[in-house]
Amino acid sequence: MIQEKIARINQLKKDQNTLILAHYYVDEEIQKIADFVGDSYYLAQMATNAKETTLLMCGVNFMAESAKILNPKKTVLLPDLNADCPMAHMSSVDKIKNVRKKYSDVAVVCYVNSSIELKAHSDVCVTSANALKIVKALPQKRIYFIPDQNLAYFIAQQLPDKEFIFNDGFCHVHAAITTEIVAKEKEKRPKAEILVHPECSPNVVALADYVGSTSGIIKQAGNSPAKEFIVLTEIGVLFELRKRYPDKSFYTPTNLMTCPDMKKLNLDKVLQTLENKSPEIIINKALLEQAKQALDSMMDLAN
Ligand code: 13P
Ligand code: SF4
Repeated sequence: MIQEKIARINQLKKDQNTLILAHYYVDEEIQKIADFVGDSYYLAQMATNAKETTLLMCGVNFMAESAKILNPKKTVLLPDLNADCPMAHMSSVDKIKNVRKKYSDVAVVCYVNSSIELKAHSDVCVTSANALKIVKALPQKRIYFIPDQNLAYFIAQQLPDKEFIFNDGFCHVHAAITTEIVAKEKEKRPKAEILVHPECSPNVVALADYVGSTSGIIKQAGNSPAKEFIVLTEIGVLFELRKRYPDKSFYTPTNLMTCPDMKKLNLDKVLQTLENKSPEIIINKALLEQAKQALDSMMDLAN
């Protein structure tokens, strides 16, 4: 049954000149059938490099939207339009306008986990993989970083010459991890290295042996001599870690680190999306062009 489904997906994908992209947080059954699996930045790069005319994004809404904004001529499909990162809406255009009114010299830096409206009013986008490099390269000293306060704090700590204005957004999955939870995990596995995504709270980040994006975490697990790892990011990443490093052990605090929006996707929805060529990401042209500037700047500065 599952083999038939996969065969049908592969056939449709070929017939319809479609590339399947998947984030490390989606279920492993989807990661297995994707052409490329990666973090947000890698997916944006792959969407842009793709020769295919249609992209099927297996991730949350902002990932599909970013692929469309960067590649307006391509058709971008998302298997469930309700798969939407709550943090993407944790700032507002009014907040940006107020900060700009108060500080004419500010750079508005928008984490890619954001709505298209926020991107359209920002100067540059970043992902967790390139935020440090990009913010460092900006000529402005004053930075308004939206929506994630924890990623903002992590970057601000490393750039003491910049003056950060923080926003109060957060990821409910990463922010649920407390220092007590980490201490308990460490007690169970004292030799384990602690790998942390920068969306975790500063107190948790302070306990990390390594902090980075999902692809950064995967690379670090390979470079490190450690054999055991406590992984403080979404549980889906364990699939790639265990596949790449079968001789190492990886643990997340159980249940807590599951993103309900990423888990809205499944193989049936992927198949239906290919069959129906829908749901498709449709964006108003003026809004797309406005948001494109911030994403294009990210791609330029990150390269
Ligand atoms: P990455 O930038 O590491 O892909 O993370 C995306 C995300 O949604 C984190 O919660
Ligand atoms: Fe959004 Fe958090 Fe889910 Fe990432 S893990 S998509 S930041 S809710």
